[in-house]
Amino acid sequence: MSSAFMNTYHRLPVTFESGEGAILTDVNGNQYIDWTSGIAVNCLGHNYPPLVNAISAQAAKLLHTSNYFESDISNAFAEKLCAVSKMNKVFLCNSGAEANECAIKIARKYSFKKYGEGRHTIVTLLGGFHGRTITTLSATGQEKFHVNFGPWTQGFSFIPPQALPPSPLVSEERSIPANADALDAALDSKTAALMLEPIQGESGVIPLDGAFVKRAAELCAERDILLIFDEVQSGVGRTGKFFAHEHFGVRADIATLAKGLAGGIPIGAALANEKTADVLETGDHGSTFGGNPLAAAAGLVVLDKIGNDNFLSQINELGNQLMDGLQALDKKKILSVRGKGLMIACDIPLDAWDVLVKLISLAKTETEGLLLLSAGAKTLRFLPPYIISKEEIDRGLRLLDRVLK
Ligand SMILES: Cc1ncc(COP(=O)(O)O)c(C=O)c1O
Repeated sequence: MSSAFMNTYHRLPVTFESGEGAILTDVNGNQYIDWTSGIAVNCLGHNYPPLVNAISAQAAKLLHTSNYFESDISNAFAEKLCAVSKMNKVFLCNSGAEANECAIKIARKYSFKKYGEGRHTIVTLLGGFHGRTITTLSATGQEKFHVNFGPWTQGFSFIPPQALPPSPLVSEERSIPANADALDAALDSKTAALMLEPIQGESGVIPLDGAFVKRAAELCAERDILLIFDEVQSGVGRTGKFFAHEHFGVRADIATLAKGLAGGIPIGAALANEKTADVLETGDHGSTFGGNPLAAAAGLVVLDKIGNDNFLSQINELGNQLMDGLQALDKKKILSVRGKGLMIACDIPLDAWDVLVKLISLAKTETEGLLLLSAGAKTLRFLPPYIISKEEIDRGLRLLDRVLK
């Protein structure tokens, strides 16, 4: 890594030059099957012609004008996003953390306007991850992120999630089921909102238990506590539905998106339902780049592709093929496979980073290497682009098998 960068990232030993579909090529001409999608971002793969064409055409016309002015393409994107997500209104920004900041502001204001001072707590789950700003880290129930950067934004409290299925390598703290009483006690008269990832991504792809989420949604509705789903990683079709929380048959009062929403151009979105759509008023919030014409042009291409049930069911089929393939590998090496659609993880009895490095170095001796992510020291994470082929899944599984052996 260039010494010009601050030392914030641990980089894998490969430098890419180009990509085509699910295949990346490095500066030496070696090829790799990409099962990372730039951490769930390049959901339509690399060099996807409609996306490249839309971005190029928009860049040649207009990149940015600011939110002082109307933009037909930004209007079209916002309307399409509300239609596809079945939400009422959207605030557009540039990242997941920024989308979650907006969600928290909506929840605090909703509660303040209706109930006055004191009802501002946002309850989140231990093991969750909501971003890297001071407030979204305050919402992140993982102590390792809370060292050195305090003082923290006040008004967050945490409960353990009820995860499904329990993983042998998930920390003890997170495998304690949050029983109905814990949830009931946490959602008290000081609570403005409950914020959850339907599948906890960064902490190991831990799907929440359906009964837990349903009970949470019931309690929130009874007590007028807003239910916020952080779908930054799990949304935009990644799990085979537009939002992962749809698998639980519940509705969000606010849902946040980012990562895959513009296929590789920075974007974030906080979507509000009929209850929360009009909470923010002129001057309450803003973002210089939010929803600019370039991001909107890219987002429209993604929504055109994703807003289609056939395409979503293909994501499910590909995910099932990958899960079945992982389950068929050596049971001593693949300890627990979990996830939904193309958001999958498994635990391994090995150092995950070493496995990632070995999968990359295969490209020097074999026809190609494989790119994976970790999510914890001993967890491999699989986030392939939605356009991955069945054949590329089989080839990737063979490469993984070889390295695990
Ligand atoms: C669930 C979730 N929320 C929020 C974030 C933060 O998103 P960003 O890095 O775009 O700010 C992430 C990033 O990994 C995430 O997975």
